[in-house]
Amino acid sequence: MPGPLGKDLLGLAPLSAAQIELILDTAGPFREISERAIKKVPTLRGATIVNLFFEASTRTRISFEFAEKRLSADTVNVASAGSSVSKGETLVDTARNLEAMKIDMVVIRHSASGAARFLAERIESNVINAGDGTHEHPTQGLLDMLTLRDRFGSLKGKRICIVGDVLHSRVARSNIWGLTKLGAEVAVCGPRSLLPNAIEEMGVTVIDRIEDAIAWADALNILRLQLERMQAGYIPSLREYNRVFGVTSARLERAPKDLLILHPGPMNRGVEIDSDVADGPHSVILDQVTNGVAVRMAVLYLLAGGKPELAEAAKKGNA
Ligand code: CP
Repeated sequence: MPGPLGKDLLGLAPLSAAQIELILDTAGPFREISERAIKKVPTLRGATIVNLFFEASTRTRISFEFAEKRLSADTVNVASAGSSVSKGETLVDTARNLEAMKIDMVVIRHSASGAARFLAERIESNVINAGDGTHEHPTQGLLDMLTLRDRFGSLKGKRICIVGDVLHSRVARSNIWGLTKLGAEVAVCGPRSLLPNAIEEMGVTVIDRIEDAIAWADALNILRLQLERMQAGYIPSLREYNRVFGVTSARLERAPKDLLILHPGPMNRGVEIDSDVADGPHSVILDQVTNGVAVRMAVLYLLAGGKPELAEAAKKGNA
């Protein structure tokens, strides 16, 4: 029986505002579980979850694993190196073989856009997209929104500017879908070579100068320059990028108000963000990481058919 999110979480584009709010509201009670001495509730006892990470990850892989273990699920981690994928086995064959061992959910990160949907259409287990190519990274978008909502109360009318390499960023796409659905005003700022054509059609404004973005925004979500995805010269040099688009304390000091600073990580310190900003008083970058565990607990729980009121019971340890 599908839960309130349906069978899979493939992106924020297909979700309604109400479904996004439900995930954020459910994450709140789950956050408290990670504060306990014994960080475990029996909510997903008996469920088996496979984490298929075919691309590098620190935050997403580890926080999914923490989330699964804190909900008492049994977990298995599969990376392409060391599995039969390295011998040429297809993604679907790998997943079908795992299903033959009676699993319940698959969390997948893959370099190909659409890989999560491709898998979800071919297996019965719930599929969660942990980042597919340049398409979407829905749990990152959700944890960014939870972090912003914690600080602002509501996202309605808040001005969020996504800065940097939007072209290669699945995080940007999930943020744009989610934030606009929840009523935020969203802008993007970066070199035109790193902004997708017709990005305005997603309901965002383009701001060309970082100084203007800082003057406009309530929060900046600063993206990593994804050098590994750049086959051509999108920018003259990293030094030049930092000089023109880098978020520096000197630039923030000239802002008319204090801004929240987010970054999904991993950061290129001294390129898109300077260290004194990343570690400064307005940075909520580590809050994002903390919220990542709670958001992933909420998603796992809701996909497993959870009822929101049971999240409260899980918090009390009796679900
Ligand atoms: N933000 C993010 O997806 O980080 P990882 O690549 O370390 O998982």
